[in-house]
Amino acid sequence: MKLTILGGGGFRVPLVYGALLADHGEGRVTEVVLHDPDDRRLRAVSRVLAEQAEGVPDAPVVAATTDLDEALRGAGFVFSAIRVGGLEGRAADERIALAAGVLGQETVGAGGIAYGLRTVPVAVDIARRVARLAPDAWVINFTNPAGLVTEAMARHLGDRVIGICDSPVGLGRRIARVLGADPKHAFVDYVGLNHLGWVRALRVAGRDELPRLLGDPALLGSFEEGRLFGADWLRSLGAIPNEYLHYYYFNRETVRAYQRAERTRGAFLRDQQARFYAEAADPGVSALRAWDRTRAEREATYMAENRESAGAGEREEEDLSGGYEKVALALMRAIARDERATLILNVRNRSTLRVLDADAVVEVPCLVDAGGAHPLAADPLPGHATGLVCAVKDVERQVLSAAESGSRATAVKAFALHPLVDSVNVARRLVDEYAAAHPGLGYLK
Ligand code: G6P
Ligand code: MN
Repeated sequence: MKLTILGGGGFRVPLVYGALLADHGEGRVTEVVLHDPDDRRLRAVSRVLAEQAEGVPDAPVVAATTDLDEALRGAGFVFSAIRVGGLEGRAADERIALAAGVLGQETVGAGGIAYGLRTVPVAVDIARRVARLAPDAWVINFTNPAGLVTEAMARHLGDRVIGICDSPVGLGRRIARVLGADPKHAFVDYVGLNHLGWVRALRVAGRDELPRLLGDPALLGSFEEGRLFGADWLRSLGAIPNEYLHYYYFNRETVRAYQRAERTRGAFLRDQQARFYAEAADPGVSALRAWDRTRAEREATYMAENRESAGAGEREEEDLSGGYEKVALALMRAIARDERATLILNVRNRSTLRVLDADAVVEVPCLVDAGGAHPLAADPLPGHATGLVCAVKDVERQVLSAAESGSRATAVKAFALHPLVDSVNVARRLVDEYAAAHPGLGYLK
């Protein structure tokens, strides 16, 4: 089985390869093709993978190329984890939004819209090529903003593209842990859009254990989301939100915290990764060790400003190991071996959330088998959550429409309609400044 990784020179590729190395089952990936426009990044990551494979007799063979079509031909699975505009682009997204007084996160609010506007045209081009060159391949999209990008690709690939994120899995795992439940036997009733969802129940043998958590302030204070949102607010909501909802419910505080930070997340990662790629090019250095050190630092500082503004303290040891690669591998296995699994994924809605149309990509528990990911029926969201989901989905639709038509006015509408952008004038300023900063937005007229 051939797996193609787009964004193959990316920093998180060794996580995926590490998971593949531990898979010795039938139908496993035997060949990995890394694609990236940047040859230097490909060389650095290839060195890390070679060190990871040392002493593993059935390690998947790795090849690297800068030719997209060659990478796609013959692929059984395509992982897409690209970053259009690089981390410099992410830093600019943040800087411009924060200077205008609004959030500059890569997936939420103004920053997410800017990133979406320059990523969608590239993702659509990839989807068209996959449809032509590898029509039977399954595309697993990690590229952020993951829900929006998956929807853009689904217009060309239908249900053959599935979006993934590790936040809901991490949340479900943490809730199960504090409740003393085995995550493998717990059903997490999580519904929403990517980075905009809520856990409404955690069922073990048919019984909902979440009320026990919501009724116990000590338990609520013992895990990441509990500390981030605070016990009182979680009890008021009667649900546990995805960590990214911290940017909504505590918007003023998070905007201020990021404005005051010495560097934004994107700027921090840009500098950190520049050091890693330079180190990994040095033949005297272990690329794997340099990567592992960099990874640990990245994970420890994830959402640091949010945690600081909420007084939530450091991340817990168990939360540092990610899980992104595990979701990807579990999904691929369920499809390739027809091993039924329930996973929270980004797929087309069908009739899951009645307030959205069938083609809207949502993030919900799905039953996965050789036929792909099938969303499970879900109870409707309460009014406040429905309102947010509908507003943000409409913003995503404006982004898709602006990317298709090249209309600057539609791009302004996308920003202006976002619940975290507080004035049409701010939206106009954002479009002007983003268009001036990003060559990838040159299509907006
Ligand atoms: C979480 C999110 C991902 C994001 C990742 C890394 O896992 O769900 O969407 O890519 O964190 O965030 P970072 O700020 O380190 O790039
Ligand atoms: Mn995510």
